[in-house]
Amino acid sequence: MMNKKAAYTVAVVGATGAVGTEMIQVLEERNFPVGELVPLASARSEGHEVMFRGQSLPVQVLEPNSFQGVDVALFSAGASVSKEFGPIAVKAGAVVIDNSSAWRMDPKVPLVVPEVNAHALSGHQGLIANPNCSTIQMVVALKPLHDAVRIKRIIVTTLQSVSGTGKDAMDELAEQTRQLLSFGEAKVEVYPYQIAFNCLPHIDDFLTNGYTKEEMKMVYETRKILG
Ligand SMILES: NC(=O)c1ccc[n+]([C@@H]2O[C@H](COP(=O)([O-])OP(=O)(O)OC[C@H]3O[C@@H](n4cnc5c(N)ncnc54)[C@H](OP(=O)(O)O)[C@@H]3O)[C@@H](O)[C@H]2O)c1
Repeated sequence: MMNKKAAYTVAVVGATGAVGTEMIQVLEERNFPVGELVPLASARSEGHEVMFRGQSLPVQVLEPNSFQGVDVALFSAGASVSKEFGPIAVKAGAVVIDNSSAWRMDPKVPLVVPEVNAHALSGHQGLIANPNCSTIQMVVALKPLHDAVRIKRIIVTTLQSVSGTGKDAMDELAEQTRQLLSFGEAKVEVYPYQIAFNCLPHIDDFLTNGYTKEEMKMVYETRKILG
């Protein structure tokens, strides 16, 4: 458990990404008591800087000793990075809040939406997971209904934005929009098909049961959170 402090050293893993950028902005907007911010990313971001409270901070390359003196580590750099570096950060004394899918279904790791099941935090062992973005929004709305009548079945349709696929996808949308409005051809790289002026009725890989991984995440994560 972390002792209460006047200010915390906060690391953001994936600080240059779509989600990491928002995390840093929210830490600032909410006036979270950050003593020091440690922005971490891959070697691709060496030499890059991020802005925090009007100051430009150099991005550091993530490595095993990145977490010395870190109180809270917000991870948002994909599941494989969380799997490898999450336990290293915990061992160094940080509380890890992980935004990837790496630890969500681990029975030892609480899967938390604060408005819904903050009680699950008690007894955490340093790693805390947050769910898939669609699950988060859905369970906030469903929690009072579930408490009142116990929900048996949920039928869900999600309409997901390009930003959910990360900064490369957002760049592709902007670039394809520019290409198409200039009467050119849309260059397809991140998605399997053109995404500008289009809607792809498919997210993530299909599983043997006919659903995609993204769809099954909503099923399993909702069950874990609502109990
Ligand atoms: N829970 C949710 O609501 C939610 C919503 C959206 C996304 N996500 C998850 O959040 C994560 C990030 O998504 P995103 O949209 O922000 O992606 P993104 O825009 O592609 O950004 C990825 C970030 O991770 C960093 N990174 C990638 N590989 C790394 C490595 N080996 N070592 C260190 N840093 C590395 C990148 O650094 P460079 O810039 O140096 O490459 C970048 O900062 C994913 O796991 C995604 O599934 C969760």
